[in-house]
Amino acid sequence: MEQKSQSPLSKATNIVWHQSSVDRESISKQRGHRSSILWFTGLSGSGKSTLANAVNVALHKNGYATYVLDGDNIRHGLCKDLGFSDVDREENIRRIGEVSKLFLDAGIIVLTAFVSPFRVDRENARSLVGKNDFIEIYCSADLSVCETRDTKGLYAKARNGEINHFTGISSPYEVPQSPELKIDTGNLKIDKCVDLVISQLVKKKIISKISDSL
Ligand code: ADX
Repeated sequence: MEQKSQSPLSKATNIVWHQSSVDRESISKQRGHRSSILWFTGLSGSGKSTLANAVNVALHKNGYATYVLDGDNIRHGLCKDLGFSDVDREENIRRIGEVSKLFLDAGIIVLTAFVSPFRVDRENARSLVGKNDFIEIYCSADLSVCETRDTKGLYAKARNGEINHFTGISSPYEVPQSPELKIDTGNLKIDKCVDLVISQLVKKKIISKISDSL
Protein backbone atom coordinates (compact mmCIF):
# COMPACT_ATOMS: atom_id res chain seq x y z
CA MET A 1 0.00 0.00 0.00
CA GLU A 2 1.31 3.45 -0.89
CA GLN A 3 1.80 6.03 1.83
CA LYS A 4 -0.58 8.94 1.24
CA SER A 5 0.64 12.52 1.20
CA GLN A 6 0.93 14.06 4.66
CA SER A 7 -2.26 15.31 6.27
CA PRO A 8 -2.51 18.57 8.26
CA LEU A 9 -2.29 16.41 11.42
CA SER A 10 1.21 15.20 10.57
CA LYS A 11 3.98 16.54 12.75
CA ALA A 12 6.83 14.17 11.97
CA THR A 13 9.11 14.91 9.06
CA ASN A 14 11.84 12.79 7.47
CA ILE A 15 9.84 9.60 7.70
CA VAL A 16 9.83 7.08 4.86
CA TRP A 17 7.17 4.43 4.28
CA HIS A 18 8.51 0.88 4.60
CA GLN A 19 6.71 -1.67 2.49
CA SER A 20 6.02 -4.99 4.27
CA SER A 21 7.16 -8.11 2.38
CA VAL A 22 4.15 -10.05 3.65
CA ASP A 23 1.23 -8.32 2.05
CA ARG A 24 -2.49 -8.58 2.60
CA GLU A 25 -3.02 -10.70 -0.53
CA SER A 26 -0.61 -13.41 0.59
CA ILE A 27 -2.12 -13.47 4.10
CA SER A 28 -5.56 -13.72 2.56
CA LYS A 29 -4.49 -16.65 0.35
CA GLN A 30 -2.94 -18.48 3.29
CA ARG A 31 -5.96 -17.97 5.57
CA GLY A 32 -8.58 -18.65 2.93
CA HIS A 33 -10.59 -15.48 3.49
CA ARG A 34 -10.39 -11.75 2.85
CA SER A 35 -10.08 -9.16 5.57
CA SER A 36 -12.65 -6.45 6.06
CA ILE A 37 -13.86 -3.69 8.36
CA LEU A 38 -17.38 -4.17 9.71
CA TRP A 39 -18.26 -0.76 11.08
CA PHE A 40 -21.25 -0.99 13.47
CA THR A 41 -22.80 2.39 14.28
CA GLY A 42 -25.88 3.41 16.25
CA LEU A 43 -27.07 4.90 19.52
CA SER A 44 -25.77 3.70 22.86
CA GLY A 45 -27.83 0.61 23.72
CA SER A 46 -28.79 -0.07 20.09
CA GLY A 47 -27.06 -3.45 20.17
CA LYS A 48 -23.79 -2.71 18.34
CA SER A 49 -21.54 -4.52 20.80
CA THR A 50 -23.96 -7.40 21.26
CA LEU A 51 -24.28 -7.91 17.51
CA ALA A 52 -20.56 -7.43 16.79
CA ASN A 53 -19.74 -10.00 19.46
CA ALA A 54 -22.32 -12.49 18.22
CA VAL A 55 -21.00 -12.16 14.65
CA ASN A 56 -17.49 -12.56 16.05
CA VAL A 57 -18.48 -15.83 17.76
CA ALA A 58 -20.00 -17.17 14.53
CA LEU A 59 -16.95 -16.25 12.45
CA HIS A 60 -14.49 -17.54 15.05
CA LYS A 61 -16.29 -20.91 15.29
CA ASN A 62 -15.87 -21.26 11.57
CA GLY A 63 -12.15 -20.59 11.63
CA TYR A 64 -12.01 -16.97 10.50
CA ALA A 65 -9.47 -14.53 11.95
CA THR A 66 -11.40 -11.74 13.67
CA TYR A 67 -11.14 -9.03 16.29
CA VAL A 68 -13.69 -6.75 17.97
CA LEU A 69 -12.86 -3.12 18.76
CA ASP A 70 -15.48 -1.92 21.21
CA GLY A 71 -16.05 1.72 22.18
CA ASP A 72 -16.35 1.23 25.94
CA ASN A 73 -13.28 -1.08 25.98
CA ILE A 74 -11.07 1.10 23.79
CA ARG A 75 -11.87 4.06 26.01
CA HIS A 76 -10.21 2.14 28.88
CA GLY A 77 -6.88 2.17 27.03
CA LEU A 78 -5.96 3.57 23.62
CA CYS A 79 -8.52 6.38 23.91
CA LYS A 80 -8.62 6.90 27.70
CA ASP A 81 -7.47 10.49 27.17
CA LEU A 82 -10.67 11.32 25.25
CA GLY A 83 -14.08 12.40 26.46
CA PHE A 84 -17.34 12.99 24.60
CA SER A 85 -16.98 16.48 23.13
CA ASP A 86 -17.39 16.61 19.35
CA VAL A 87 -13.63 17.07 18.94
CA ASP A 88 -12.80 14.13 21.19
CA ARG A 89 -15.28 11.88 19.39
CA GLU A 90 -13.69 12.91 16.09
CA GLU A 91 -10.25 11.92 17.41
CA ASN A 92 -11.65 8.69 18.85
CA ILE A 93 -13.05 7.66 15.48
CA ARG A 94 -9.92 8.82 13.62
CA ARG A 95 -7.78 6.53 15.78
CA ILE A 96 -10.18 3.62 15.36
CA GLY A 97 -10.21 4.14 11.59
CA GLU A 98 -6.41 3.93 11.56
CA VAL A 99 -6.31 0.92 13.89
CA SER A 100 -8.93 -0.85 11.77
CA LYS A 101 -6.80 -0.23 8.70
CA LEU A 102 -3.89 -1.98 10.42
CA PHE A 103 -6.10 -4.97 11.19
CA LEU A 104 -7.18 -5.00 7.56
CA ASP A 105 -3.53 -5.14 6.49
CA ALA A 106 -2.98 -7.96 8.98
CA GLY A 107 -5.63 -10.03 7.19
CA ILE A 108 -8.21 -9.84 9.96
CA ILE A 109 -11.93 -9.24 9.84
CA VAL A 110 -12.27 -6.36 12.29
CA LEU A 111 -15.63 -5.53 13.86
CA THR A 112 -15.87 -2.03 15.33
CA ALA A 113 -18.67 -1.06 17.72
CA PHE A 114 -18.62 2.70 18.27
CA VAL A 115 -21.52 5.13 18.44
CA SER A 116 -19.58 7.13 15.80
CA PRO A 117 -22.37 9.70 15.64
CA PHE A 118 -20.90 12.01 13.01
CA ARG A 119 -21.23 11.22 9.32
CA VAL A 120 -18.03 12.99 8.35
CA ASP A 121 -16.00 10.97 10.87
CA ARG A 122 -17.44 7.69 9.55
CA GLU A 123 -16.76 8.80 5.99
CA ASN A 124 -13.18 9.69 6.91
CA ALA A 125 -12.68 6.19 8.34
CA ARG A 126 -14.17 4.72 5.16
CA SER A 127 -11.87 6.81 2.97
CA LEU A 128 -8.74 5.27 4.54
CA VAL A 129 -9.36 1.92 2.86
CA GLY A 130 -10.53 0.44 -0.43
CA LYS A 131 -14.10 0.65 -1.67
CA ASN A 132 -14.91 -2.96 -0.79
CA ASP A 133 -13.08 -3.01 2.52
CA PHE A 134 -15.55 -1.04 4.62
CA ILE A 135 -19.02 -2.31 5.48
CA GLU A 136 -21.08 0.19 7.42
CA ILE A 137 -23.76 -1.49 9.52
CA TYR A 138 -26.36 0.81 10.98
CA CYS A 139 -27.97 -0.64 14.11
CA SER A 140 -31.21 1.26 13.81
CA ALA A 141 -32.92 0.68 17.18
CA ASP A 142 -34.51 4.02 17.87
CA LEU A 143 -34.04 6.26 20.85
CA SER A 144 -37.21 5.17 22.66
CA VAL A 145 -36.12 1.51 22.49
CA CYS A 146 -32.56 2.29 23.63
CA GLU A 147 -33.83 4.48 26.41
CA THR A 148 -36.33 1.86 27.60
CA ARG A 149 -33.60 -0.78 27.63
CA ASP A 150 -31.11 1.59 29.32
CA THR A 151 -28.84 -1.38 30.07
CA LYS A 152 -26.09 0.80 31.55
CA GLY A 153 -28.40 3.30 33.28
CA LEU A 154 -26.82 6.13 31.25
CA TYR A 155 -29.99 7.50 29.63
CA ALA A 156 -31.51 8.09 33.07
CA LYS A 157 -28.34 9.94 34.07
CA ALA A 158 -28.35 11.94 30.83
CA ARG A 159 -32.01 12.91 31.35
CA ASN A 160 -31.42 14.16 34.86
CA GLY A 161 -28.33 16.11 33.83
CA GLU A 162 -25.68 13.89 35.43
CA ILE A 163 -24.10 13.24 32.00
CA ASN A 164 -23.61 15.99 29.43
CA HIS A 165 -23.31 15.62 25.65
CA PHE A 166 -25.09 12.27 25.69
CA THR A 167 -25.81 10.98 22.19
CA GLY A 168 -29.50 11.12 21.34
CA ILE A 169 -30.30 13.33 24.36
CA SER A 170 -27.92 16.28 24.38
CA SER A 171 -25.60 15.44 21.50
CA PRO A 172 -26.65 14.55 17.92
CA TYR A 173 -26.60 11.21 16.11
CA GLU A 174 -26.40 11.57 12.33
CA VAL A 175 -28.19 8.63 10.74
CA PRO A 176 -26.18 6.91 7.97
CA GLN A 177 -27.50 7.86 4.52
CA SER A 178 -26.37 4.80 2.60
CA PRO A 179 -24.97 2.15 4.89
CA GLU A 180 -24.19 -1.23 3.33
CA LEU A 181 -26.57 -2.72 5.90
CA LYS A 182 -29.32 -1.31 8.07
CA ILE A 183 -30.41 -3.73 10.77
CA ASP A 184 -33.49 -3.21 12.88
CA THR A 185 -31.80 -4.10 16.16
CA GLY A 186 -34.79 -2.68 18.02
CA ASN A 187 -37.06 -5.49 16.84
CA LEU A 188 -35.17 -8.37 15.27
CA LYS A 189 -33.85 -11.35 17.24
CA ILE A 190 -30.09 -11.55 17.55
CA ASP A 191 -29.71 -14.69 15.40
CA LYS A 192 -31.59 -12.98 12.54
CA CYS A 193 -29.28 -9.94 12.87
CA VAL A 194 -26.22 -12.22 12.78
CA ASP A 195 -27.57 -13.96 9.65
CA LEU A 196 -27.96 -10.60 7.90
CA VAL A 197 -24.33 -9.68 8.58
CA ILE A 198 -23.00 -13.11 7.61
CA SER A 199 -25.02 -13.06 4.35
CA GLN A 200 -23.46 -9.71 3.48
CA LEU A 201 -19.97 -11.13 4.06
CA VAL A 202 -20.72 -14.10 1.85
CA LYS A 203 -22.24 -11.84 -0.83
CA LYS A 204 -19.12 -9.67 -0.81
CA LYS A 205 -16.94 -12.80 -1.01
CA ILE A 206 -15.09 -11.99 2.21
CA ILE A 207 -15.92 -15.45 3.54
CA SER A 208 -17.46 -18.58 2.07
CA LYS A 209 -20.65 -19.98 3.59
CA ILE A 210 -20.52 -20.83 7.27
CA SER A 211 -21.92 -24.00 8.80
CA ASP A 212 -22.37 -23.00 12.43
CA SER A 213 -23.71 -19.53 13.11
CA LEU A 214 -24.47 -19.34 16.85
S1 ADX B 1 -18.18 7.79 20.16
O1 ADX B 1 -19.27 8.78 20.09
O2 ADX B 1 -16.88 8.42 20.37
O3 ADX B 1 -18.19 6.87 19.00
P1 ADX B 1 -17.95 5.48 21.84
O4 ADX B 1 -18.62 4.44 21.04
O5 ADX B 1 -16.45 5.50 21.87
O6 ADX B 1 -18.53 6.93 21.44
O7 ADX B 1 -18.41 5.35 23.35
C1 ADX B 1 -19.78 5.29 23.62
C2 ADX B 1 -20.05 4.57 24.93
O8 ADX B 1 -19.58 5.37 26.02
C3 ADX B 1 -21.54 4.41 25.13
O9 ADX B 1 -21.98 3.13 24.75
C4 ADX B 1 -21.74 4.64 26.60
O10 ADX B 1 -21.63 3.41 27.29
C5 ADX B 1 -20.57 5.48 27.01
N1 ADX B 1 -20.85 6.93 27.18
C6 ADX B 1 -20.50 7.64 28.28
N2 ADX B 1 -20.79 8.94 28.11
C7 ADX B 1 -21.37 9.06 26.87
C8 ADX B 1 -21.89 10.16 26.13
N3 ADX B 1 -21.87 11.40 26.62
N4 ADX B 1 -22.41 9.93 24.89
C9 ADX B 1 -22.42 8.69 24.41
N5 ADX B 1 -21.94 7.59 25.05
C10 ADX B 1 -21.40 7.78 26.29
